[in-house]
Amino acid sequence: MTTSATVKSTRIALAPGDGIGPEIMNATLDLFKAAGVHDHLEFHPVEMGASIFAKGNSRGMTEEAIKITEEAGVLFKGPMETPKGGGGKSINVTARKMWNAFANLRTFRTLPGVSTPYSKAGINLNFSIVRENIEDTYGGVEHRLSNDMIQCKRLISAPGCDEVHRFAFQTARRQGVKKVHCGHKANIMKMTDGLFLERFKAAAKDFPEIETGDVIVDALCMNMVVKPQQYQMVVLPNLQGDIVSDLAAGLVGGLGFAPSANIGKHISIFEAVHGTAPDIAGQNKANPTALILSGLMMLRHLGLARHASIIENALLKALEEGVRTGDFGDPAKPVLSTTDFVKHIKDRLGSKPATVPAVDVPETGAGGDKVTWTKPPRPQHQEVIRTFANVVRHVVGCDIYLDTPLSPVAVAEEMQRVCQDTPFKLSLVSNRGTQVWPTGSSFTECVDYYRVRFELREDHRPGDFGQARCVALMDKVAEKFVVCSYELLRVFDGVKGYSLAQGQ
Ligand code: NAI
Repeated sequence: MTTSATVKSTRIALAPGDGIGPEIMNATLDLFKAAGVHDHLEFHPVEMGASIFAKGNSRGMTEEAIKITEEAGVLFKGPMETPKGGGGKSINVTARKMWNAFANLRTFRTLPGVSTPYSKAGINLNFSIVRENIEDTYGGVEHRLSNDMIQCKRLISAPGCDEVHRFAFQTARRQGVKKVHCGHKANIMKMTDGLFLERFKAAAKDFPEIETGDVIVDALCMNMVVKPQQYQMVVLPNLQGDIVSDLAAGLVGGLGFAPSANIGKHISIFEAVHGTAPDIAGQNKANPTALILSGLMMLRHLGLARHASIIENALLKALEEGVRTGDFGDPAKPVLSTTDFVKHIKDRLGSKPATVPAVDVPETGAGGDKVTWTKPPRPQHQEVIRTFANVVRHVVGCDIYLDTPLSPVAVAEEMQRVCQDTPFKLSLVSNRGTQVWPTGSSFTECVDYYRVRFELREDHRPGDFGQARCVALMDKVAEKFVVCSYELLRVFDGVKGYSLAQGQ
């Protein structure tokens, strides 16, 4: 691994990763060194990943690694392994969340020498996905609620949406992107995705020169396959952004060509979209292009645009001449190892591609050849970010969630008895989100987990009570049933803060 002993320049925390990570990271740093990047940056190795998990560290990173990354403000990382199922959390997700790298910018474009159905049809692609990086189901808030039911909470906040949308529009403005789309599923998840879309529209008002559009995520997937060139930038909630960006990678030749930047206010993380590729790890045959491109995003983030452009032109030149690893390219050209692939790029440093436009290289002294990024001061405390501070809120009831194998009618009878002498009436029983009482269909199958909804009786008005009466009601329910969870029903500035059941 390439490091330097003294701190003579900007320090970057460096985590090579697992699987193919060390191979592609070494290759990338070798290229960067040849381009003079190491005159400006000091790459400081930090311990993160599988070997740290194996030592029983459940975060997958040492205290020293955390300290160095927080001091540096920039982490360049290779892919890291996440065990499927079990209790082990993804270190990749932990890093993004812990350091509040709230926006994941992923860029996709047609590259010379990388054959795709679109490149064959003469269609050049160049677009970005901005994925919200902190919230959504990636909170990993999961519980087993009954014998048969497991829940994952999907959390979407207004300030979380605002941060990612603002980042998307600011990036679009800087890059000259003319239109930004919001991808969502607000037709079904009217409140969570509805908020994501509403905050997108609110953020757009500060960027009047940028056209906006919104698209339902399933239609987006089809449109992307049929006519991807209609998109320049799409901003999406976390899970949808994750899926759509792998689809996007497929459009430009595969995961080997998909770089990403996880941007936060204080700490940013640069990494390829792909994983550890265990099937080819240790064989010196992985394609380092995605990590190189992620590194170029990092160099530009830091202000080293000249170095980034010189490396990018050499990469483009090599690709157009048929330099390739085994996962892509012209079968008539030889397959190169990871190290030889990079050697060919190094040999072309200083030259420019002929078949595609070269990237502008700023003149020496014209900016772009020294680090201009300054690390923001370390936050003194965990900030509470807010979008809506002054809202009038009134309690109107509660949803109580029960672990019971009873029938819907039996549940309703019990609940009506429980609420008899309270300010609440039973208004709904639902199972898996579908209303099963007071009306329902005998075709609806039920499982052992119910929601029962209690709302204020007609002689009470919103605001007559705080939540204490609801808690007292839950106490009464808990005398006979296992209460798994409880949600307060409130109106916010007169608007219901809860959804209706399917069929209600
Ligand atoms: P993967 O991206 O590692 O591999 C999928 C397929 O793409 C494999 O056939 C692999 O050989 C190929 N591939 C990926 N990168 C390549 C490259 N640079 N050159 C040539 N071929 C490449 O996805 P998979 O197998 O689902 O995940 C493996 C592990 O990686 C898992 O533990 C997963 O959690 C982790 N992962 C880590 C990520 C990160 O660190 N940001 C992101 C995605 C997955």
